[in-house]
Amino acid sequence: MATERTLSIIKPDATRRNLTGKINAKFEDAGLRIVAQKRLHLSTAQAGKFYEVHKDRPFYGELVDFMASEPVVVQVLEGENAIAKNREVMGATNPANADEGTIRKEFALSMGENSVHGSDAPETAAEEIAYFFSGLELVG
Ligand code: CMP
Repeated sequence: MATERTLSIIKPDATRRNLTGKINAKFEDAGLRIVAQKRLHLSTAQAGKFYEVHKDRPFYGELVDFMASEPVVVQVLEGENAIAKNREVMGATNPANADEGTIRKEFALSMGENSVHGSDAPETAAEEIAYFFSGLELVG
């Protein structure tokens, strides 16, 4: 197994409800280390660029507006198989399909307001981490 890093975002529906600590506890309990973290209020342009891969999807406009609506917490999680492990801890994109004990099962409000984002592959993790953090900010 390899040590990996993945980009995580605690979304506006969760920061609004003051859930950052409870969500971070889920990551740490699963053996993931938070090696970088900051709270940002994204502009529409910044959120739009981050989710550019979805720009042709019908939900893109709503997604971008939501992500720019209130603060987010962006973070880098590190651990063995961190990308897959984080996706396990988050649960399915649609909270109606998420397993018991996952972040989305416990906290997500809907498919759109689903509390967290996590990178889906090593290449996207590297790109997404570089979008928000410089190497100097990653303290493992
Ligand atoms: P996330 O993992 O951040 O990646 C893209 C986001 O788009 C996803 O979580 C959902 O919050 C949001 N989204 C809204 N509608 C849909 C949909 N129909 N299918 C997939 N993702 C959606």
